[in-house]
Amino acid sequence: MMHSLRARLLWWVLLPLAAFMLVAGVMAYDAARQTADLLQDSVLLASARTIGEDVQWNNGELTANIPPAALEMFESPYQDHVFYKVVAGGDRLLGGSPELSLPSDARVSYPVFYNTTLDGQSIRAVAFERQLYNSGEALPVVVVVGKTQASREGMLAQLWHPQLVRQGLMLVLAVLLVLIGLTSELRPLMKLKEDVADRDPMELDPVRVAHLPTELRPIVDAINQCIARLKLHTSTQRQFIADAAHQLRTPLTLLDTQVECARQCIDDTPALSDALAGIHRTSRKMTEITNQLLLLARAEAAPSPNVSVDMTEVVSSVLEELILAAQRRDIDLGAELDGDLRVAGNAQLLTALVANLVDNAVRYTQEGGAVTARCRRQGAEIVLEVEDNGPGIPAEIRAHVFERFYRGMTNVEGTGLGLSIVQRIAQSHGGSVAVAPGAGRIGLVATVRLPAWKEKD
Ligand SMILES: Nc1ncnc2c1ncn2[C@@H]1O[C@H](COP(=O)(O)OP(=O)(O)O)[C@@H](O)[C@H]1O
Ligand SMILES: [Mg+2]
Repeated sequence: MMHSLRARLLWWVLLPLAAFMLVAGVMAYDAARQTADLLQDSVLLASARTIGEDVQWNNGELTANIPPAALEMFESPYQDHVFYKVVAGGDRLLGGSPELSLPSDARVSYPVFYNTTLDGQSIRAVAFERQLYNSGEALPVVVVVGKTQASREGMLAQLWHPQLVRQGLMLVLAVLLVLIGLTSELRPLMKLKEDVADRDPMELDPVRVAHLPTELRPIVDAINQCIARLKLHTSTQRQFIADAAHQLRTPLTLLDTQVECARQCIDDTPALSDALAGIHRTSRKMTEITNQLLLLARAEAAPSPNVSVDMTEVVSSVLEELILAAQRRDIDLGAELDGDLRVAGNAQLLTALVANLVDNAVRYTQEGGAVTARCRRQGAEIVLEVEDNGPGIPAEIRAHVFERFYRGMTNVEGTGLGLSIVQRIAQSHGGSVAVAPGAGRIGLVATVRLPAWKEKD
């Protein structure tokens, strides 16, 4: 069973074509055979007539001289054997081979063509009759000329073989044309396949229908309906997470304030104050997780960015925000910003991206370390690097840090969502993020590449 559509279509074109060629071949053979027979017979008759002309009365005797021309007509590269026989009055042999038989039916009208054998060779022969008159008396003289079949076979081959070759060539040409046609006609199908197969799992845009053959439309429509349902489902779910996170924020903020309030009132009871401090930390952590979840939900729902955002401003504002946290840990926080750093995007999400990277660097680098945020333009890309000289990430867990809720260093507070948020935001901006050891294999450098802003004209 062939599963390739192309192979099957080719088969269904070739099968009738081959049948047609077969019939045409047989017909060509038949035509060639008729032509060869006709030619052979006409030469035989001409030869018999020439011999018949030279049968004469000579002093009351009938004589048959065989003119050389009568036999020369048969000369060919095939070297046929030629036989003849001249019979007068029905039984008197005037010349030639006696064993050459006459036509079996005596009442034929001359000339007559027939097939016979002689010495085991098949012979095509013609019998031709002429009346000779001598003093009022008519004497029938029959001339028979026969020959072997080699030249006839040769002629048949010469007539037929070129036809066969022509038909073979036509078949090859037809296969080629059909193959070319099929390949080009099946291209939209292949393209559709690639379009569906190479899809980003997050990309839920419908498959393009333009330029598709009408037969493929229903399939694509069905795929698109499926994608639409999937999209609705995904967005409902995203919306749910966003709503849940949003709903949680208010009570959590309230809880935070209430705990803070309670701690101020009961300064003098150490055990209770410890418990309240614990509750306070837990509620802060819940707030952080909630905020990060909300951010992740937003990043995933982000529509394609089309506003110009200046990364100089984004990075500067993030550093301003985090400078206090850095100073608290005695970390030297610096920036190197160079040239036109505009990207197409969403300022809020890009701020979250930079903030998460700088936050990680400040958090995980030992006290007294250094963190640098670098941004530059490289061709059509804006490259953001956040480098620190902290512990870095061991190679074996580097692949996991982008997973949601994955945490490497559990001695430092965190949610495990930071780098997955960074990755989602980078991807939704058509960019990417990677982490690698920093300069001299010390610390970590996180590199984000984003498409630079293109002025529309
Ligand atoms: N600058 C860094 N230096 C060392 N380790 C890092 C750095 N940034 C991230 N990591 C590692 O990657 C893990 C995942 O980071 P992230 O997704 O931001 O989650 P979180 O910071 O909440 O733990 C961290 O737990 C940490 O082990
Ligand atoms: Mg983090």
